[in-house]
Amino acid sequence: MSEAIHIKHPWREFWAGMMLFIGNQGTILVDTAFEDAITTSLKDELVPRNLSYKDVKLVINTHAHGDHIEGNNAIDALAKPAFAIHPEGQQVLLKSGIAPKLLLQDGQRIKLGDIDLEIIHTPGHSPDSICVLDLNSKTLFTGDSVQGRGTLNIGFALYSNPKLYLESMKKLLGRARLGDIETICLGHPELPSNGAVTGEQVTEFLETSIQAVHDYDNLARTLLKDNPDLTIDELRSEMLKRFGTTLTPNWPELSWQTPRIHLERAKKQ
Ligand SMILES: [Fe+2]
Repeated sequence: MSEAIHIKHPWREFWAGMMLFIGNQGTILVDTAFEDAITTSLKDELVPRNLSYKDVKLVINTHAHGDHIEGNNAIDALAKPAFAIHPEGQQVLLKSGIAPKLLLQDGQRIKLGDIDLEIIHTPGHSPDSICVLDLNSKTLFTGDSVQGRGTLNIGFALYSNPKLYLESMKKLLGRARLGDIETICLGHPELPSNGAVTGEQVTEFLETSIQAVHDYDNLARTLLKDNPDLTIDELRSEMLKRFGTTLTPNWPELSWQTPRIHLERAKKQ
């Protein structure tokens, strides 16, 4: 039976997640974090198992954000694996010098020996976001698709399209309730998780992810009703106070994205 390993590569104040599936005919790596992640964190998992870079036959990127693809060129040089990404992420990969061999679709099965994976398209964080479900262990690697209440660095769940994000969370919740997902492994420590949830926490975490969007929405709507001139600044500081994972996000530039989106949404409603 194949093995699923969640790798947490140390990065800035936290870590960038990767997933390594080890089967009887080679391994599949999901996300590559950064160049040094390949030569340190990945190597640290391969060597004790008598595996080498050449055993990595396929690399799947959960989406084309830098902290999930920047190790692609390093593993390409060492192992020449095939690459796979959702079509919406293809252009970014091509620009980085990687030509994906597989363009992933919702529901697609990926098999290598006894590794048996299902691709679940979960847009919202980004249009190309996918999750990878290991059908053997019922472990779901989410990349950045599931945000909980966000990281300590950003303070909020981070997405580009809240409507699609909610649909994706409900889709995953449905699969979890069917018993298809027993463990979730994340791309970063999205609170209230520190990186992985299992058992009953799986549905709780997905419900928390849904609730976060509703909380931001409701607050934006209420504040806008009282103050039609509400600024992003004012909304952001109130969102941080009531629902933020911290009052002082380390990455303020990204912590503006979610308040901006919710202010626009509230104005349209
Ligand atoms: Fe991302």
